[in-house]
Amino acid sequence: MQFEGKKGLIVGVANDHSIAWAIAQQILEGGGKCGFTHLPDRPDDEKKKNRRRVAKLTDKYEGAEFLLPMDANNDDDIRSIMEHTEKTFGKIDFLLHSIAFADRDDLGRETLHTSRNGFKIAMEASVFSLMAVTAAAEPILAPGGSVLTMTYYGGEKCVPGYNVMGVCKAALEASMRYLAFDMGARDVRVNALSAGPIRTLAGRAAGVEDMLQMYEHMAPLGRNVTHEEVGRTGAFLLSDNSSGITGEVLHVDGGYNAMGSPGRLLDEIKKSQSS
Ligand SMILES: NC(=O)c1ccc[n+]([C@@H]2O[C@H](COP(=O)([O-])OP(=O)(O)OC[C@H]3O[C@@H](n4cnc5c(N)ncnc54)[C@H](O)[C@@H]3O)[C@@H](O)[C@H]2O)c1
Repeated sequence: MQFEGKKGLIVGVANDHSIAWAIAQQILEGGGKCGFTHLPDRPDDEKKKNRRRVAKLTDKYEGAEFLLPMDANNDDDIRSIMEHTEKTFGKIDFLLHSIAFADRDDLGRETLHTSRNGFKIAMEASVFSLMAVTAAAEPILAPGGSVLTMTYYGGEKCVPGYNVMGVCKAALEASMRYLAFDMGARDVRVNALSAGPIRTLAGRAAGVEDMLQMYEHMAPLGRNVTHEEVGRTGAFLLSDNSSGITGEVLHVDGGYNAMGSPGRLLDEIKKSQSS
């Protein structure tokens, strides 16, 4: 029960496939208490689908203390979530930022042709949002606390198809390091978890199916990582067990990022050429 007595805020659960949910489950099952946000429903959506999808999950856990709408592009939303969080918990020990967004048209385009507006939209939702929520949470993050964001290898190297989101992840990782410096003075850590491809809503939009195949053939482990593996490492980075780690990008990708060649995929290419 490594989260006994710990409390925090989880931003980025859309449904049961969300990486944020995989991490939150580990925390809740480890005795922690969490507040959750969901993307606001459109006013004309009478069924309130965004809320319902998340409520279906959080309702099962006693440690899930609240579920409120928050658009990370809206400062009033962020402020009111932090006020509610403080009212509920006082200080918090962890903050998970697990959100990204880019317009489908821009994701599907060569990076070369990213639109000006699409670039701004993607950067604001996927990068500035980390600064916005961390700054808003700063007064209520307890000493020893931990902030975690989610990234992907396409921010380090060119992964064709990841396009503008790769540019966002590079900026996100740089932001994480600068925030780690600023928040280090407040005894709060800031890290990023770089996950291998996982089937989620955002993952599908970013071309996860092709990536899954590549990882199976190229990663040292010869397989893809699971939601649970990413969940466990995410929870580790948000827990006291990682108390000496900050400003870090920790890869949970079966070792894919360690490769400097296609590895076993090359053997398969050779085999297919000789047959
Ligand atoms: N799925 C993968 O293969 C993979 C791999 C590495 C990193 N990631 C990253 O993990 C994070 C979570 O994505 P996921 O794969 O769990 O998909 P997901 O679709 O389940 O989660 C993305 C979340 O972002 C939220 N979001 C988008 N715009 C928002 C806004 N303006 N305000 C508030 N919330 C907003 C969505 O509501 C959703 O909850 C993202 O940063 C993604 O880039 C995903």
